[in-house]
Amino acid sequence: MIRRCAKNEFEHIYAIINDGAHAYNGVIPADCWAEPYMRVDELQHEIDAGVMFWCSEEGGALCAVMGLQNVRDVTLIRHAYVLSAYQRQGIGAQLLSHLRTLARSPILIGTWAAALWAIRFYEKHGFRVVGPKQKEYLLERYWNVPERQAEVSVVLADSAWQEPKAEDRASHAKVGFHFCLTDEPSQVQEVFCGGRDVTSHFALIPIRQRRVATTQEK
Ligand SMILES: CC(C)(COP(=O)(O)OP(=O)(O)OC[C@H]1O[C@@H](n2cnc3c(N)ncnc32)[C@H](O)[C@@H]1OP(=O)(O)O)[C@@H](O)C(=O)NCCC(=O)NCCS
Repeated sequence: MIRRCAKNEFEHIYAIINDGAHAYNGVIPADCWAEPYMRVDELQHEIDAGVMFWCSEEGGALCAVMGLQNVRDVTLIRHAYVLSAYQRQGIGAQLLSHLRTLARSPILIGTWAAALWAIRFYEKHGFRVVGPKQKEYLLERYWNVPERQAEVSVVLADSAWQEPKAEDRASHAKVGFHFCLTDEPSQVQEVFCGGRDVTSHFALIPIRQRRVATTQEK
């Protein structure tokens, strides 16, 4: 049976994610793996950010979860996990089909590039991996994942998703530059000017917190 997870099922969701995620161990880059894969506070953060979980119940116990998150003009499928012992029995497919009936906008899915089985799974359901430029754009626009995770991820889209034109992508691109206000070593700070209109986004960035200093980020 597929149903929406209840509020008091947090621990079940947590357990299923961390059991199912063992498939990644030794497959995704070592610096992206952790035990547990998702901490309690990370899961709580996701729920607070609007991820709604559905689950599959077999014999009275939950065996799989899958999340939906509405972000701007798209629907994201988030955190799809089937307990290891229940994988490859059609449960993920049932959950995915159910969630697709609930989506009111094009669906996007992000996963690890190394999780070939997951990519295959989504491709079997009509999703297509988007190109690298699209991926960068989509991850920045719709997700909030660390830069390293973005680097080693792929994004899949359903047929309702239409690639934005290059000029639309460019209008969202962060065109930014950094320069130093002072070279006094104890106070070195930089100004970052970015955004479509460079005057719209000024920030003082202590140099140690600087992410990547390039003339043009995209
Ligand atoms: C990916 C996942 C959600 C799919 O759910 P599922 O119930 O196992 O998948 P289904 O039984 O509905 O579909 C099976 C198909 O998915 C793919 N697949 C799923 N697990 C696989 C595996 N371990 N190895 C190879 N293919 C796999 C295959 O295409 C498979 O078809 P096949 O059995 O005919 O070869 C589930 O396997 C899972 O939780 N995996 C670990 C975590 C993960 O990768 N999550 C995706 C995060 S976006």
